[in-house]
Parts: sequence; structure tokens; C-alpha cells
Amino acid sequence: MKFFLDSAKLDEINKAYEDWGIDGVTTNPKHIQASGKPFLTAISDIAAWIKEKGLEGVDRFPVSVELDPHLTEAEDMVNAARKISAMCENFVIKIPCLPGGVKAARILEKEGIRTNLTLVFSPSQAIWAGRAGCLFVSPFIGWKEDNGEDCRGYIQDIVDIYENYGWYGKTQIIAAAVRSPKQIVDCAVSGADIVTAGFAVYAQSIKHAYTTQGIGTFTDAWDNTAGN
Ligand code: E4P
Repeated sequence: MKFFLDSAKLDEINKAYEDWGIDGVTTNPKHIQASGKPFLTAISDIAAWIKEKGLEGVDRFPVSVELDPHLTEAEDMVNAARKISAMCENFVIKIPCLPGGVKAARILEKEGIRTNLTLVFSPSQAIWAGRAGCLFVSPFIGWKEDNGEDCRGYIQDIVDIYENYGWYGKTQIIAAAVRSPKQIVDCAVSGADIVTAGFAVYAQSIKHAYTTQGIGTFTDAWDNTAGN
């Protein structure tokens, strides 16, 4: 399973890459806002970091960059996507699952500009990403589970559909808006290719109360072992 960091904060991206070997980044307007930088500055800084790390290439470290959400017509999305894509070969264009978005994704993929169909909340929406040949599809988890829905089946359905039509692995499934270790596990059990989550969620997923307790127990034993 690949781990993408859901953030536009350069310090978090660098630490998650250096410490945990994350495989890519996803951003959205909320993450750009949280970075404290204007959109173009935030993504330019990420592009510069990629060069500094020698990670050039969309297959080596993909960075999903979301279009201006005011853009809903395909022509406007395509024009904006071309400009963003020209900034860095690692940039994957995040496009909302709207009628204009599906049309734009099809155009861009034919041009070799990789896309990530996002704000996906149903298997029927995910089918459009597979048909369009998007590099990624981003079915959201957290927003649905925050409203009482169980998402293990929903991701499993998308995986099953993608396997039925040969899209599995070609359009990679990024389980998005992942907010807990349990949701990471649910997505892994269901067969998502990738999860994207915030820095704190990954940190939490490494820890467990019993691990902490065990360290305490073993430390006591170590310190009270004759000769240590
Ligand atoms: C990633 O591609 C999504 O935009 C992100 O996971 C959305 O989740 P959030 O609401 O936690 O930002």
C-alpha cells in the first residue's frame, strides 16, 4: 500500500518523506490555505523541493494539485491544468467529479497530462475515472464516515468494478480524507492502492497504547536485570 501525505506544508512533506518514506502528496484548497502561502507559491515551493530531492518524475513522487474550484467548465479546467502541469512533471491535476470535470480529464489524459478525479463519493462516480483513464481516483472516506456511513464496502465495490474492467492499477484508487488508523486498515483490507492522510494520522497509526506500556515493562525489566 502506498502512503500519500495530505498536505501542502513543506516541512511536513519533507519530514514525512525523510522519516517514513511517503510515496507522494495530495493537496487541495484547504491544504493550500493551511500552508499560509498563495496557491502558486505553495506549489512552486513543492516543485523546488522535488528538484532538490532529485524526485523528478510523476511515477517517482506524484503531487496532486487541485484546480481552482470556481472552474467548472471543461475548457477552463483544461486551460488551467496545462499551466499547472507545465510547472512540474510530478504534478497530477486534481479535477472534481463533475460533468465538465470528466470531459476535461478525458481531454487532458489524451494530451498526456495526468489527472486525479476527486470529490468522489460513490462507485458510480469512480467508474468515470476508470473510463477516462485517470491516473488516480480519490473516493473520500472521512466525510462519509463522519456522517455514519461505513466505507469498507464502498471501497471494495470500487476495487471490484476496477478489476472487472481492467482498470485496477491503471487508475489507482487513492482512499482520501482518511482520518484514523482504522480507516487506513479498512482501505487496505478493501484493496485501495493508496491512502492519503494528514501527518498526525500517520503518526497515530504507528503508535499503540500497549506498545507504550510494553516499553515501560521491558525498561523496568532491563533496569532490574542483574549485571545490566
Ligand atoms: C485529497 O486528495 C483530498 O482532497 C483530501 O483527502 C480531503 O480530505 P480533507 O477534508 O481531510 O482535506
